[in-house]
Amino acid sequence: MTTVYLNGDFIPKDRATVSVDDRGFIFGDGIYEVVRVIDGRIVEWDAHAERLARGLAGIRIALESAAIAALKGVCERLVSDNGLDEGEATVYMQVSRGAAPRTHHFPPAGVKPTVYAAASKFVVPRAHRDAGVKAITFPDFRWLRCDLKTVNLLGAVLARQAATEAGAYEAILLRDGVVTEGAATNAFAVVDGTLRTHPLGNLILPGITRQVVVELIREQAIPLDERPVTQGELMRASELFVCGTTTDVSPVVSLDGKPVGSGMPGPVTRRVQALLDARLYAAVGAGR
Ligand code: PDD
Repeated sequence: MTTVYLNGDFIPKDRATVSVDDRGFIFGDGIYEVVRVIDGRIVEWDAHAERLARGLAGIRIALESAAIAALKGVCERLVSDNGLDEGEATVYMQVSRGAAPRTHHFPPAGVKPTVYAAASKFVVPRAHRDAGVKAITFPDFRWLRCDLKTVNLLGAVLARQAATEAGAYEAILLRDGVVTEGAATNAFAVVDGTLRTHPLGNLILPGITRQVVVELIREQAIPLDERPVTQGELMRASELFVCGTTTDVSPVVSLDGKPVGSGMPGPVTRRVQALLDARLYAAVGAGR
C-alpha cells in the first residue's frame, strides 16, 4: 500500500483526499517540484528547495521557510515508508493556495496552503539515454512566467501529447522563431560547433539539471553560449539533447522525422552525459 503525505499526515494514498474547492484543482493555483532519489539520497535537494521557495514567493503563496525545509524529511520518510531506499525513486511535491470558495483573487488570510507529496519507484529508461529519442517541434504558447514551476501545465500537456501522437518522446518548443526548451526538459544544441542553450529568464524553467549541466560544462571548459537557437539553426544542428530530473541528458536523434546530425548521439552529448552520470552516481558510490 502506498503512503503519501498530505497536510502534516502520512496516510494511505486511497485515504488522501483534497477539497473540490482546492485552488490547485479549480485554478491550477500552485507550485510543484519533482526530485530524484538514488539509494535513499535526494539529488540536489538544496537547489530544488530554493526553486520551490522562489516559485511560491513568485505566486505569493505564503509557506514558512521552515515548512519548506521540513519537506526534505518528508521526502526521506516517504522513500523509506514505501520501501524505496534502494535503487531509484522520484518524489512529487505540490503546494497549492488551499481550499476556499471560488474567487479569482486570493482567499482570506488564514486559508492554509495544501501540501502534498508522494514517492514513486523510478526505472531509468536506459534506452533513451543510450540510443537517443525522437522529438517534434511545437509552438510554445505557454504564458510569460515559464520560470515558475506552476501546476498549470496545459502548454506542456498539449505539447507532450502531440509528441506522443507522433511517436516521439519530447516536443521542442518554439517561440518567436527560437527554441525555448522542451515541454518538460531544457534543450541544448550544437550549432556550427558551439553548444548553445536558451538563457535563463521568464521564458524557460530554470531546470536543476540544466544548472548542474552548465556547471559541469564550465568546469570542463567546454564552450557554451547561452544564446537562443533559431528555428533555422535547430534544423541544421549537429547535435541536440534534452535534460531534466527524470530525463538526465538524453540525445535527440530525430526531429520532425529527420535525423539530427548523423542520426546518432554526438560526441558533445556523450561527454555531457558522462559528466552528469558521474555527478549523479558518484555520491552513492554504487555506479549504475
Ligand atoms: N519537469 N523545463 C520544463 C518546462 C520542465 O517541466 C522541467 C521539469 C524541466 C527540467 O527541470 P529539472 O531539471 O529541474 O527537472 C525543464 C518535471 C520533471 C516534470 O514536470 O515532471
